[in-house]
Amino acid sequence: MTNEKSCVLASACKLAGDKDGCTSRCSSWVSLHGASGQGGRVAAASIPNDYRMDTIKTMPTRDSTVKIGANTPSLANVLDSYVDSFKRQFEASGERVKSLYLWSRSPGTGKTTTAAALATTYLIKHYIGSLAHDRQVLQRPVLFVDVNQLQTDYNQFNRPRVPDSVAEPAAQRYYKTIEQAKVTPFVILDDVGVRENVTDGFRGDLHSVINARVTNQLATVYTSNIPISELPMVFGEARLADRIRDMTMEIEFTGGSNRGMRNK
Ligand SMILES: Nc1ncnc2c1ncn2[C@@H]1O[C@H](COP(=O)(O)OP(=O)(O)O)[C@@H](O)[C@H]1O
Ligand SMILES: [Mg+2]
Repeated sequence: MTNEKSCVLASACKLAGDKDGCTSRCSSWVSLHGASGQGGRVAAASIPNDYRMDTIKTMPTRDSTVKIGANTPSLANVLDSYVDSFKRQFEASGERVKSLYLWSRSPGTGKTTTAAALATTYLIKHYIGSLAHDRQVLQRPVLFVDVNQLQTDYNQFNRPRVPDSVAEPAAQRYYKTIEQAKVTPFVILDDVGVRENVTDGFRGDLHSVINARVTNQLATVYTSNIPISELPMVFGEARLADRIRDMTMEIEFTGGSNRGMRNK
């Protein structure tokens, strides 16, 4: 059996579908998906299953029109040139990959889809580029953080009378994600906007992740239900939002909801 339907590298691989080369013994398959197909760097990146096979070339949101300041370019144009900057990770120029802030008031406009496609695209480019430049491929060049899930984990070990058997794994997942999110080169923070029942503890941890990334100029793709200008409300202070804005392209998703369009 060949792996071209489940391997994220398929679109870039000469051996995709080859009955001898495209097997679970392929070293690239093992690097990306693990010997079992459930591990490797794709699993380490935590990109949601539903979204992980799309790149920015294949994502269903490619034809959307978006708003950047007073301009209304196509998302395809914006992201094609953004993704071109991923090669900077192998250059000595010192120029950084910028951050993106994808937002819309209403849900279902394709923000998460787009962010996940960027994560997969970065992973592919990191893998291929590292080999081409004779560099070591990082174990986790990309991390997708579902901020809602992170908050759920937080609440799970901060509620009174939670049994240890529930609280401990949630706490472990939580602190692992927080630490990884501070240092991984390319991170998606999916849904950083306004949410219900946020405690100061969780807000502080999220703040510390973003602060670490901004300070170290690490590229982040945020998705959100509010513009950057309203982030001070979320963080309880204005400075972090200002620092995010300095290194980030803000993109408004203006289409209506597409929830349910995908027939999966
Ligand atoms: N422009 C689009 N064209 C086709 N399908 C889309 C588009 N935008 C979103 N979708 C589909 O709608 C659903 C919700 O998209 P999602 O990315 O989760 O939205 P958001 O994160 O903005 O709430 C997904 O199944 C996605 O594939
Ligand atoms: Mg979303």
